[in-house]
Amino acid sequence: MGYLDGKKRMTVGRILKKKAAGEKITVLTAYDYHTARILDDAGIDMILVGDSAANVIHGFDSTLPITMDVMAAHCAAVARGTESALVIADMPFLSFQPSLETAIFNAGRFLKEAGAHAVKIEGGLEMVPTVKRLVELGIPVMGHIGLTPQSINRFGGPRVQGRRKKSQTYLKESALALEEAGAFSMVLELVQTDIAGEITESLKSAATIGIGAGVDCDGQVLVINDILGLGDTEFKPRFVRRYADLSPVISDAVKRFIADVKSGDYPHDEESYPE
Ligand code: KIV
Repeated sequence: MGYLDGKKRMTVGRILKKKAAGEKITVLTAYDYHTARILDDAGIDMILVGDSAANVIHGFDSTLPITMDVMAAHCAAVARGTESALVIADMPFLSFQPSLETAIFNAGRFLKEAGAHAVKIEGGLEMVPTVKRLVELGIPVMGHIGLTPQSINRFGGPRVQGRRKKSQTYLKESALALEEAGAFSMVLELVQTDIAGEITESLKSAATIGIGAGVDCDGQVLVINDILGLGDTEFKPRFVRRYADLSPVISDAVKRFIADVKSGDYPHDEESYPE
């Protein structure tokens, strides 16, 4: 679908109209084609190809190890599965921090090779020049402040941000500066509710998308595996609402398959090709 007939596709402009109208914005992560199709058909506004793929798909204990090539492959699969949702590629650790040139090249790759419509960049005030340049070059940017998982070694753990005055000031200044730089939205991760509300109120041309940041954000994002109960059942921060419990469903199906194969009950004749 080209840009002249692409009325169906969510756009940055429509996201901002939703904010202006007080209509909540919905975002979920996806990492593969089939999940993206389900999310898209269900009517999600934006799909984030998060670097949380490092954790929930590749089994790393942080987001740091995932590479551009792996993220580009996930993003391309997700983009192929969508017709309506805006697809945002999460720029992995070291794909944008080293220099402006690195950031432009890698953000451009996501749009050029992997079908993304926007990129997400972690960081506040310190990332403003990068965000500004990408936006100038026609690459829509979603910011990400609060608990930024690529800096987990600095945070020392998943600590709620915005508890202290210094952190509140940094968050508020970062949000305004990201908006000024042209970011069309920003994730607020693990941010004290009232601070997230104040930031949301203060922004006119950037939508806030909360995760663990309370109900006053313009929209909400969660990791698809978390809402589906797919994976580590021990992992359940208080902001995760589980809408399904798929791990035991899959486990049960696998156990029944094993039992059927062992007992000779699979395959039946109807599942085979007799002469
Ligand atoms: O990588 C990711 O999934 C994210 C969301 C948690 C916002 O950055």
